[in-house]
Amino acid sequence: MRNPAALAWRIYRGAPLPVRLHVLVRALTCPFGALVARFPPEGSALDVGCGHGLLGHLLARDPRRPRLHLAGVDHDAAKIRAARALAAPRARFWALPLEALPEAAFDFVSIVDVLYTVRREAWPALLAGCRRVLKPGGVLLLKEVIDRPRWKHRAILLQETISVGLLGITRGDPPHFASPAGYARALRESGFSPFEETSLASFHWISHYLILARRR
Ligand SMILES: C[S@@+](CC[C@H](N)C(=O)[O-])C[C@H]1O[C@@H](n2cnc3c(N)ncnc32)[C@H](O)[C@@H]1O
Repeated sequence: MRNPAALAWRIYRGAPLPVRLHVLVRALTCPFGALVARFPPEGSALDVGCGHGLLGHLLARDPRRPRLHLAGVDHDAAKIRAARALAAPRARFWALPLEALPEAAFDFVSIVDVLYTVRREAWPALLAGCRRVLKPGGVLLLKEVIDRPRWKHRAILLQETISVGLLGITRGDPPHFASPAGYARALRESGFSPFEETSLASFHWISHYLILARRR
């Protein structure tokens, strides 16, 4: 995927301007191309905490994945309405908790920049939900921001404290970021076996970290 930001701007052209600007900033600051590249060419995928549905909308228009069926869930009904308002072949969005979805329904589950706004004690339940909806042997893609180097950690903490705490742009618990080992441990404790862990290139103040893990 050559230019996710330009694509996002085009896909959301019918959306209200604040939504369009929000997804543009997401596409400029999060390496969606690297995430899209990890999805399978076909099957069923679920994006947990999908927000305005940007990842699903990008995937739904990816010519290399014509037989991939996508779903997204988020607890923010307004974001789900915005995701649904755009035509998307092969993509559906629901404001439903994971418990409302059938067991073992998806080949692939992604959770992108969600755990940082879920309090640590609630991670096991959320990750168990991701595991439950995955088919045995299915793959979870986790992308989070990590707590290093220190200056980047301070910058992202300030940004997200304003975004989550003051402006309410993201609905969730106070932001907190973990180490790569912390995210991998949480996955192992929730019944996943990580098989790829990597930093994703960033030329700004955000340290992106990706883990792919298989459901045990
Ligand atoms: C920073 S946004 C990321 C959105 C999207 N994944 C993306 O990459 O653009 C975090 C999202 O997680 C959602 N979220 C937080 N906690 C959640 C939970 N327990 N269940 C479902 N969604 C949740 C928020 O509503 C928000 O849309």
